[in-house]
Amino acid sequence: MCGIVGYVGRRAAPGLLIEGLKRLEYRGYDSAGIAMSNGHGLETRKAKGKISTLESLVNGNPIHGSVGIAHTRWATHGAPNECNAHPHTDCTNTIAVVHNGIIENFGALRTMLQKQGHTFKSETDTEVLAHLIEAALDGDDPLEDAVIDALNLVQGTYGIAVISSRDPDKIVCARKGSPLLIGLGEGEFYVASDVAAILQHTRQVVYLDDGEMGILTPQGYEVLDLNARRIKKGVSRIDWSLDEIEKGGFDHFMLKEIFEQPQTIQNTMRGRLVIEEGFSKLGGLNLSKEDLQSLDQIIITACGTSWHSGLIGELYIEENARIQTETEYASEFRYRNPIVSDKSLCVVISQSGETADTLAAMREAKRRGAKTLGLVNVVGSTIAREDDGGIYLHAGPEIGVASTKAFTSQVIALALFTLKLARLRNMSVVKGREIAEAMLALPDQIQSILDHAGDVEAIADRFKDATNFLYLGRGYNFPVALEGALKLKEISYIHAEGYPAAEMKHGPIALIDEEMPVVFVAPHDAVFEKVVSNIQEVKARGGKVICITSQRESVLEGMIDHEIRVPQTIDMLYPILTVIPLQLLAYYIAVKRGLNVDQPRNLAKSVTVE
Ligand code: M6R
Repeated sequence: MCGIVGYVGRRAAPGLLIEGLKRLEYRGYDSAGIAMSNGHGLETRKAKGKISTLESLVNGNPIHGSVGIAHTRWATHGAPNECNAHPHTDCTNTIAVVHNGIIENFGALRTMLQKQGHTFKSETDTEVLAHLIEAALDGDDPLEDAVIDALNLVQGTYGIAVISSRDPDKIVCARKGSPLLIGLGEGEFYVASDVAAILQHTRQVVYLDDGEMGILTPQGYEVLDLNARRIKKGVSRIDWSLDEIEKGGFDHFMLKEIFEQPQTIQNTMRGRLVIEEGFSKLGGLNLSKEDLQSLDQIIITACGTSWHSGLIGELYIEENARIQTETEYASEFRYRNPIVSDKSLCVVISQSGETADTLAAMREAKRRGAKTLGLVNVVGSTIAREDDGGIYLHAGPEIGVASTKAFTSQVIALALFTLKLARLRNMSVVKGREIAEAMLALPDQIQSILDHAGDVEAIADRFKDATNFLYLGRGYNFPVALEGALKLKEISYIHAEGYPAAEMKHGPIALIDEEMPVVFVAPHDAVFEKVVSNIQEVKARGGKVICITSQRESVLEGMIDHEIRVPQTIDMLYPILTVIPLQLLAYYIAVKRGLNVDQPRNLAKSVTVE
């Protein structure tokens, strides 16, 4: 969602903070701002639009200091404009606050503060924090005391960083429900909502947990709870390289991440496949053989692309391990009355590990007695820290808002988990070995699809002006159809629907005419013949058929307008191959429409609000 970065030390902070914001821009980007404390009061600059606009503003009207906070916003309360951009200040310009999250009782707090004489400048929920801290500041009490008093009045979620002209060498930060970490340097310290913002300066970080507050000065840092008691925290080391969060010669992060997939899925598999035994080694599950054998239900919960990989996982587990499995939208699961017992396992899938709905669903499942297993990419993220066990994806940082490499790594992680589960229950070694061997071949197979990306680009050129798209698939490839449609919608703004191919005749078939491109995900698997009938139905109505298939099929001759071939694999692994052309198709269409694929409108990389 929004992004926070802050710095205390001896260096000039503005350039450093703007650099940090640029690395966070993928989280949200409708406006941005920076505030410095420099011994002469607070100075603030804010701008609507991208970080580059803020940067030009600061270049034209410089701001000085070595203690500062900065923010890139994705609007929740109040329109995206300069006034609503963070940092927000109090009446006397003594306090500046940046905030991720939502203050749920901000209406009541705002009314209370207005009655006390406070004047508000913005429409945001965040501004109440600046005024609450102003109201709580008492004599020479340190800033952290006022922040504690203010936060004790607040309901909702926050990751905040606060500076004050009365305590000019200090940043106070606090977390409840919105990620925040402290970066440790030599005589300098950082606060950030995401490690990407500070990785070029330090790899040593302390993750704040909910209910914790950090106090940073050039002399050091400490972590307190909201009763001002000191907490001892461990220091984590971040292994991601700076290269991994840069574009590496590609025009966009999304394209780079699509092309990384041969390597990223290899990283997900590395050291985990035991070919001879047709088995997988997953060290972090924290589930004994007996636990896995006695499970009677699996709930998979996630959002967006991660939910799509969950649908594939459900098919894997039911087909191979014969355990009843349901994949649920995290946002729905948390608000119903699901059947969960101590024999249930809740598999939580999230690239970021910070998605608010997914985190809440995991907590709900735990509360109801289930064990939880996180499939997460971002090491040290909240889901990764709160789950009972986990499988890290090891896909490296995913910056493009449209998720690509995380999806294929999630499906691989689900296949690894299924192998382990199924082999402990009912799967033969021969079957296990067949799956493991097919998995090993996938990186080269993905590469061979990427080597023909130009063919997909040509199809994108043909359909870039379409206004609607239909994506159809069956079995393992129905979730791929959903994922293809989501990719196209989010970055090209073309209306697209994913559907089970056979369901088309129950309604969507009415949409088909000469203007409608229909993408069939139809590799040669157990349901191929069935999909052929669905292709015929579309062709008979004049639809334009783009078919992702796996081998030359004479039956398709004359029925399809464009063909994209993927290599052959076993049925369950086709999604890892068939999704690649769909990612490329969405990417090229968006680029040809002149859109910013890495930062599509209205979207944020991780959705840390409900
Ligand atoms: O970080 P998560 O995997 O929990 O994110 C879930 C969704 O917000 C995410 O997959 C979203 O749908 C992507 N923009 C899809 O490309």
